[in-house]
Amino acid sequence: MLVTSKELTAPARARGYAVGAFNAVNMESAQAIFRAAEETRSPFIIQITQTTLAYTDPEELFALIVALGKKATIPFAIHLDHGRSFEVCMRFLRLGVTSLMIDGSLQEDGKSPRSYQENIDITRRVSAAAHAMGVTVEGEIGRLGQVTTEKEAAEHLTTPEEAVRFLRDTDVDMMALAIGTTHGLFKGRPRIAHDRIEQIAAQAPIPLVMHGGTGVPDEDVRKAVSLGIAKINIDTQIRVAFYDAVIERVHAVEKEFAETDAAGGVRKYDVRKILAPSRDSMQKAVMDRMVVFGSAGKA
Ligand code: 13P
Repeated sequence: MLVTSKELTAPARARGYAVGAFNAVNMESAQAIFRAAEETRSPFIIQITQTTLAYTDPEELFALIVALGKKATIPFAIHLDHGRSFEVCMRFLRLGVTSLMIDGSLQEDGKSPRSYQENIDITRRVSAAAHAMGVTVEGEIGRLGQVTTEKEAAEHLTTPEEAVRFLRDTDVDMMALAIGTTHGLFKGRPRIAHDRIEQIAAQAPIPLVMHGGTGVPDEDVRKAVSLGIAKINIDTQIRVAFYDAVIERVHAVEKEFAETDAAGGVRKYDVRKILAPSRDSMQKAVMDRMVVFGSAGKA
């Protein structure tokens, strides 16, 4: 059931729901994502972000995802999240991803902005290679980040003119926008630029992408989806679910050990007793998003 993400997000945009794109970093998070999708009958995108290269070889993680995918009864895509260079995108293409993001908005360091011309140059180069292999391409226009003032909104948010120009100058299949979201947690309640989403969607018929989906209030998510957001990226929420469960388990294990020691017994070590609850916790977090995105029951 491995498909391209365009095959998942185009119907989502047409029918008014969004497909979640969930980041996997290890076996437990990948299993949690697949299990959540099976349980909610939700199409989904599983993604590996470029920064994970510093943690593990993508070849290893990819092989694991493919093995999980062989048993899946739900359509899914494997996506490279935030590819920042031509070389990294080619590495993932060779691996067999069915979808990739070329993030031309930032330089390879992931911090300094690229000029508009640099963005379209790299986006076009990667698109040509990916499209030749039938792989879906996501591009990004604008500067992602939380905006708290009108001045920041004017400086950072993607304008309809920029979005239309980017679509004309590239041939991306999905477009990520700066609409007031940021990676990681927000300070206070985020201001989501629904008016921008609406204006851009009216002129850009392709699936629009919300990055930084963690912490966006459910009502804002639903509104954004009704206006044209068809792919929503979730990473931090899965990490939080993992941390919460691990912290709880570690406290319980400390107590168990203290009791064992006091009784003069022998401690038992089993990492699965820490990882299994964390996997369940991540699965719950993913299922919760699938319901809010409206993708549950669509497979
Ligand atoms: P969060 O970590 O805020 O969920 O964002 C994920 C993301 O946008 C990955 O590209």
